[in-house]
Amino acid sequence: MARTGVETSLSELAARAADAAVARRRLRAADGGRLVLGIAGPPGAGKSTLARGVRDELNLYAGTRIAEVAPMDGFHLSNAQLRDAGKLARKGEPDTFDVAGYIELLRRVREAEPGQPIPWPTYSRELHEPVPGGVVFDHQTIVVTEGNYLLLDSGEWAAVRPLLDETWYLDVPRPIIEKRLVRRHIRGGRSAADAKSKVEHSDLRNARLVERTRFSADLVLRKSGRGYRID
Ligand SMILES: Nc1ncnc2c1ncn2[C@@H]1O[C@H](COP(=O)(O)OP(=O)(O)OP(=O)(O)O)[C@@H](O)[C@H]1O
Ligand SMILES: [Mg+2]
Repeated sequence: MARTGVETSLSELAARAADAAVARRRLRAADGGRLVLGIAGPPGAGKSTLARGVRDELNLYAGTRIAEVAPMDGFHLSNAQLRDAGKLARKGEPDTFDVAGYIELLRRVREAEPGQPIPWPTYSRELHEPVPGGVVFDHQTIVVTEGNYLLLDSGEWAAVRPLLDETWYLDVPRPIIEKRLVRRHIRGGRSAADAKSKVEHSDLRNARLVERTRFSADLVLRKSGRGYRID
């Protein structure tokens, strides 16, 4: 169990992920596969930023590409699918993702022997659409998957947790999330009023749902100075 209230850096976090990968390899030597680190947290918490940071540290440390990010956001339903289902205005809520597709690919990437290419979809904030095969897993042995709903314990999402070997929750004060999200929606083309309304009526509702999963993570982190603090 990690000590709480202590500062930690990206490189210490990467070392923790690498240790987990070694431990998993020892435990599951017979079935090979990859270690899956899951980073959960509310919208706008900085999950994608942390996931990329940990990946880059791991790759730098190893001197080769041992880690890659597998974003849950790649499984957003397309805008056409959401429109047809009457869900476009609620984009980002738990039932606006291809949850079964995410679980299936996560299982595959976790269990497959590294080497064989497995494409993973990403999400474009410019196009506002998923991008099929945005990233490809091949020789990497560590998967950093990140998204809002990784730790939900009900409905379809509950099948994700057993596929995560190590889980981190990235916490952030509400007022900071609100500011970041409004700014991002405006950058994405919304008016200030629209951006505020989307945050109030959709993003914050999602944030409250996600916040209830905080307790079940192995590690709770908060941004602090140049690094993170273990809460
Ligand atoms: N540690 C940080 N310090 C300051 N700003 C940050 C930090 N991490 C992320 N941000 C900013 O906050 C915003 C959200 O970050 P990011 O996209 O990583 O969050 P996210 O949790 O992946 O969001 P989403 O759930 O919407 O995908 C971005 O504008 C990013 O630049
Ligand atoms: Mg993100």
